[in-house]
Amino acid sequence: MRYIEDDLKNKAILITGGAGFIGSNLAFYFQENHPDAKVVILDIFRSGETLSNGNLKSFGHFKNLLGFTGEIISGDINDKDLLLRLENQYNFDYIFHEAAISDTTALEQDLMIKTNLNAYKDLLDLAVKHNANMIYASSAATYGNAESPQRVGREAPNNVYGFSKLSMDYLSREYMKKCSISIVGLRYFNVYGAREYFKNSTASMVLQFGHQILAGKNPRLFEGSDKILRDFIYIEDIIQANIKAMQPKKSGIYNVGTGKARSFQDIVNILQKELGTSLSCEYIPNPFIGSYQFHTEANIATTTELLNYKPTYEMEDAIKEYVPEIRRLYEEEVK
Ligand SMILES: NC(=O)c1ccc[n+]([C@@H]2O[C@H](COP(=O)([O-])OP(=O)(O)OC[C@H]3O[C@@H](n4cnc5c(N)ncnc54)[C@H](O)[C@@H]3O)[C@@H](O)[C@H]2O)c1
Repeated sequence: MRYIEDDLKNKAILITGGAGFIGSNLAFYFQENHPDAKVVILDIFRSGETLSNGNLKSFGHFKNLLGFTGEIISGDINDKDLLLRLENQYNFDYIFHEAAISDTTALEQDLMIKTNLNAYKDLLDLAVKHNANMIYASSAATYGNAESPQRVGREAPNNVYGFSKLSMDYLSREYMKKCSISIVGLRYFNVYGAREYFKNSTASMVLQFGHQILAGKNPRLFEGSDKILRDFIYIEDIIQANIKAMQPKKSGIYNVGTGKARSFQDIVNILQKELGTSLSCEYIPNPFIGSYQFHTEANIATTTELLNYKPTYEMEDAIKEYVPEIRRLYEEEVK
């Protein structure tokens, strides 16, 4: 579904992190709804290199882009020469910046700050030179365990990932003061949906529980999961927010959630209903206590007012829509 009137004919759009979950969904949104726009993807893709927690350093995967016909560049946003080439060879109208160390449990503070914050500054400078609108991915991780509902201005990150995203927001505010381009930071809450499979163990629990259930295993939840609540948001509403952020009433930092917290237990219950199972759950101790969010719920009042964003999916509807893809992935990738 198209979210703006403009057909974006001959507009040049850069999507960093376009081989990842959210970036690839954005790429297909443009291909399907604005076929005359020119979309360029920049992503480092996966190399097999891992972080100290054992997870991949980057999750970009070609399979997320099967069927995408635009231009694809494999490269590192930390590579200043590459950014200079982009500056000289293109003239972007919009930059969607999704590339990041997206693993919230990564411990490498040096790499996190360099990739998430310092490279973002270079991309902001590129946006200013091209007079492009910047729409970038911030995160609900900026809030840590700040009181619910989370509001912009009351942040308390409790890991370096959240810190890096909050620092991006502070930097953006400085640019908003001194530059005339439109800059919108979107604080995504917990996103789930198609093309997240290649995030491996950092993919949403919707997908992970779905695959546990399809394998006939008892879903494994942290103890007290009926009281661990998050604002889980479906990918289609994330796309809506990004596209509406192309024409904001005002530059700024906006929450992107549903405005309703749901529990991890709810996810399992809905999945079991959709998959026709009644497996008993297994409860395990939570190893992340101290850097874990126990209750998130986005206050989306300004997002609605200034971006005209309205979440459209209840979790029941979103999981119902997602289940055939969860099954396909299980058959084609997991088994
Ligand atoms: N998925 C969520 O729930 C969620 C929530 C809040 C914020 N975010 C943010 O949204 C953005 C997209 O997240 P995602 O879920 O699609 O994650 P993802 O890991 O699937 O996508 C990020 C992409 O960036 C690429 N990348 C990493 N380092 C790079 C580098 N140095 N140069 C170029 N490309 C690089 C990766 O290969 C990957 O394809 C990220 O900035 C993430 O921090 C995601």
